[in-house]
Amino acid sequence: MTVLEGKQVLLGVTGGIAAYKAVELVRLLKKAGAGVDVAMTGAALRFVGKTTFEVLSENPVITNLWEDSHGSVAHIDVAARCNAAVIAPATANCVAKLAHGLADDALTTTFLAVTAPILICPAMNTHMYENIRVQRNLDLLEKDGVHILDPDFGTLACKTVGPGRLPDPWLIADRIEQMLTFKDLAGKNVLVSAGPTLEPIDPVRFVSNHSSGKMGYAVARAAEMRGAAVTLVTGPVSLSPPVGVDTVFVQTCHDMAEAMLTRMDGADIIIQVAAVADFRPDQQENLKIKKRSDQDGMTLTLVQNPDILRAMGERKRPDQFLVGFAAETHDLAANAVKKIEKKNLDMIAANLVGGKDTGFQADTNEMTIFFKDGSHTGIPLMDKPAVAHKILDAVLGRLEPGR
Ligand code: C5P
Repeated sequence: MTVLEGKQVLLGVTGGIAAYKAVELVRLLKKAGAGVDVAMTGAALRFVGKTTFEVLSENPVITNLWEDSHGSVAHIDVAARCNAAVIAPATANCVAKLAHGLADDALTTTFLAVTAPILICPAMNTHMYENIRVQRNLDLLEKDGVHILDPDFGTLACKTVGPGRLPDPWLIADRIEQMLTFKDLAGKNVLVSAGPTLEPIDPVRFVSNHSSGKMGYAVARAAEMRGAAVTLVTGPVSLSPPVGVDTVFVQTCHDMAEAMLTRMDGADIIIQVAAVADFRPDQQENLKIKKRSDQDGMTLTLVQNPDILRAMGERKRPDQFLVGFAAETHDLAANAVKKIEKKNLDMIAANLVGGKDTGFQADTNEMTIFFKDGSHTGIPLMDKPAVAHKILDAVLGRLEPGR
């Protein structure tokens, strides 16, 4: 369940070639449990039919203040009932009208009546987008508290290469979710690590583990949604970096140690989710090790990696909150409590590995959180984004007792 569940989103569609992407946005919002109302301009109707939006949103679409059959104040009703409003794509014309409070069609009139947070997704030809007048209008809107999602860079329908493409619908949905999330981590700097580390044997082989990075990425994304300034230090994974998060890519435990230790002083909350390889080959060959016909096997000597979390625990100031993770196959509680003490942690999030619904690679997790004072609390099986929010709730509960 996301913050979109049960919320009402008003979607404005204006006449850009990217109007077709708004169809997918409605589908994503509905899938996340939101109700959707759609308002379209006359030009948007030339790109995508009203029926498509009506069927997907399961609501009448506002296109005309005078002829819509569902009542002449429908535009005021949808403006009043929305929890968030978005215009995707927003043309230069629409941006100009909104910036100056014009209301000469159904969409701009509806949006002028919106009191909920508004996200504008400008999409147009690069030269139009970079035009000083368009930029000035976007600045005006931003100063008025309207959220702007910058367009993507790429090849546009007019073959121009530059900024102007409407971002993917999942990203627009992600930013609507962010807009609706309560900012209880505003003003906090959060440093998160994620993924495995990869310890090279030679240029083509390595020692690593099964960590997918899903849990750490979910923690970073949840903290960003809640208003924190987030830095994510990540080992090699196949996930897209979370939007709005400063992401640092590393490979080895040594790289991760350097990235975390050079950034930890500026962090209020440090969450070390990464599955750091405990051992690395004692030496890394520069050339690929060849198979030899006179050899039945080979011996790889491993040496212990530095414990990054322990080093951070030794250095941590009293005002910093340090969280470790523990993946155990047995004796969860005893091992977690020992680690809190050994690594000077404020909290540890521990889970048993081996099940198909928890730990590495899984989309869900089930954890027990242990605190420095000996208390603990359980997080039942849920998807990793939801677990991430529970972990942040637990951190905030300790930072601000009585919450
Ligand atoms: O002692 P153990 O490896 O089980 O502790 C797990 C915690 O320690 C995790 O938070 C992990 O990221 C961290 N860790 C570390 N450096 C290592 C090994 C583990 O920071 N070399």
